[in-house]
Amino acid sequence: MPIRGDFVKIFLDSADVEKIRHFAGLGFVDGVTTNPTLILKSGKKQKDVIAEICKIVSGPVSVEGAEETAEGMIKDGKEFAKWAKNVVVKIPMGKEGMKAVRALSAEGIKTNVTLVFSASQAILAAKAGATYVSPFVGRLDDINVDGIELIRQIAQIYKNYNFQTQIIVASVRNEKHVIEAAQIGAHIVTMPPEVLEKMFYHPLTEKGIKKFLEDYLAAKAR
Ligand code: G3P
Repeated sequence: MPIRGDFVKIFLDSADVEKIRHFAGLGFVDGVTTNPTLILKSGKKQKDVIAEICKIVSGPVSVEGAEETAEGMIKDGKEFAKWAKNVVVKIPMGKEGMKAVRALSAEGIKTNVTLVFSASQAILAAKAGATYVSPFVGRLDDINVDGIELIRQIAQIYKNYNFQTQIIVASVRNEKHVIEAAQIGAHIVTMPPEVLEKMFYHPLTEKGIKKFLEDYLAAKAR
């Protein structure tokens, strides 16, 4: 059972407006996460691309700055929160970040603690009052550490203490990550559009559709 009773939410980890529009049109985009790398790839100014995304998606849209002090992150966060009602401020894990999360949470601004690679970091993020925590499964797998095992640990810990912080499984590389995250009961999986695209397909589905179409036409031609 999902730990909050909701079915797994699908977020797109992307700043590609056309791809977001495409999948939102199919009804599969519950939210969006971005980071400075994705904004750079979009070729647009951060504020402009976030405004476009927030017009398409009514769910949470995470926006990340690049300040190193709590003061800077709080200033940025307050500014981002003015851009649209559904903006969530992404804050990197660390002492300055956790100060910023406490301050922004106290003002009712939603936060997503990013660059989380251990359960101990996830405990601190939840205690600081983060709305969301983003453990990076793919980057852990890349260094030969089981990323999905981290999700299992965090889900268990949050469930033990009824933490309200929601887990966003991030740095997702494939459908297996999505399936395993949902099996554990993670609240949200954020994925590149390419992974969501692949989730629709199976070779046996394609083969079956082709055969049924051929047989349908043959029977119709009788
Ligand atoms: O947005 C954070 C995270 O999902 C980044 O993923 O693929 O750069 O490790 P990746």
